[in-house]
Amino acid sequence: MSEIRLTNIIKRYEDGFVAVKNAQLEIHDGEFMVLVGPSGCGKSTTLRMIAGLEEVSEGDIFVGDQRVNDLEPGDRDIAMVFQNYALYPHMTVRANMGFGLRMRGVDKNEIDHRVNMAAKILSLENLLNRKPKEMSGGQRQRVAVGRAIVRQPSAFLFDEPLSNLDAKLRVQMRTELAKLHHQLKTTTVYVTHDQVEAMTLGNRITVMNEGVIQQVDTPLNLYRHPRNRFVAGFIGSPAMNFIRGNVMESVFSGSGIRLALDKVSHQGPATLGVRPEDLTIAKGDTTSIFSVPIEVVERMGHETVLYFQLSGDPLVARIEEDLAIKAGENVPFTIKSQRWHLFEATDDELRIEHLAHPDPNKN
Ligand SMILES: Nc1ncnc2c1ncn2[C@@H]1O[C@H](COP(=O)(O)OP(=O)(O)OP(=O)(O)O)[C@@H](O)[C@H]1O
Ligand SMILES: [Mg+2]
Repeated sequence: MSEIRLTNIIKRYEDGFVAVKNAQLEIHDGEFMVLVGPSGCGKSTTLRMIAGLEEVSEGDIFVGDQRVNDLEPGDRDIAMVFQNYALYPHMTVRANMGFGLRMRGVDKNEIDHRVNMAAKILSLENLLNRKPKEMSGGQRQRVAVGRAIVRQPSAFLFDEPLSNLDAKLRVQMRTELAKLHHQLKTTTVYVTHDQVEAMTLGNRITVMNEGVIQQVDTPLNLYRHPRNRFVAGFIGSPAMNFIRGNVMESVFSGSGIRLALDKVSHQGPATLGVRPEDLTIAKGDTTSIFSVPIEVVERMGHETVLYFQLSGDPLVARIEEDLAIKAGENVPFTIKSQRWHLFEATDDELRIEHLAHPDPNKN
């Protein structure tokens, strides 16, 4: 059993700053859990507490049935891969990967066996005799992952492992990591800033903000049923558009926009959320919910991204075709059927469920 459980975890640094506030998190055995959130929200702190590199101020961490709060990092059976993977420059790939096992006094044949297996999984077989400086960034990163694999730990922790790689290598390593998890099925916690990594690698994603866990859910549930405005704006790229306004008898109105909302009982101030990909160009003015002059047009070939403003709020639309629209042109917009979100205008900014688009988690 290698599930990881955090109960009421608080991290208070020595200067009194509280970086993690009462975190409750269950990472299932074999699960790939992605941790996302803005810079400084407490992702690395959380990971380092699980690894044992940072002390827990309050609460408990369990790996399987064992409470690990008081265990040294080396006794936790967890391997961590950092953004700055420090390989020993004077050692070959083989020696780098086997180093941790040698220090533990593992038998030489066993080390060779595990290194060969990891090298096979990571396609490093032909590079085993190279030194780090004779390899590309992506290859070095694979060695760092290999060093974690050979330990056969009960969990992997990754802290932005791909952020030093260029775009093409990132994509390649991303699919390698997906394959790796598919093969080994080791419980994994993975911190990233990359939306695509989060959406594609995670069985589930934990979204954090200012030390507080906002939502833990599958990628698609986060996309479709964000719990609050923060999660809605954080998951998805370009980010969800927000329009302030008021709901009266199932009609949302803000300056320059009017939208009939089916099946919403909410009345009063609210924020309307619409993803850029859920805006479409209205056929004729009659069906449009607002009409605005476009400020910037980005033609990508397969899609066109339009930037404009609605009563001072900057909005983005992503249309899945190549449109010959020019900046300055007036464009009527509508929203794909039921593809809007509504948020309370309170401090929590919780999402208001609408019956036409119910949350599967709450039958
Ligand atoms: N040793 C420390 N003493 C005091 N505060 C710290 C310490 N280490 C980190 N912090 C603060 O705790 C907060 C969380 O830091 P953490 O490194 O966990 O953020 P993060 O989510 O990993 O951010 P990033 O995405 O930039 O890596 C930050 O505000 C940071 O300044
Ligand atoms: Mg960090």
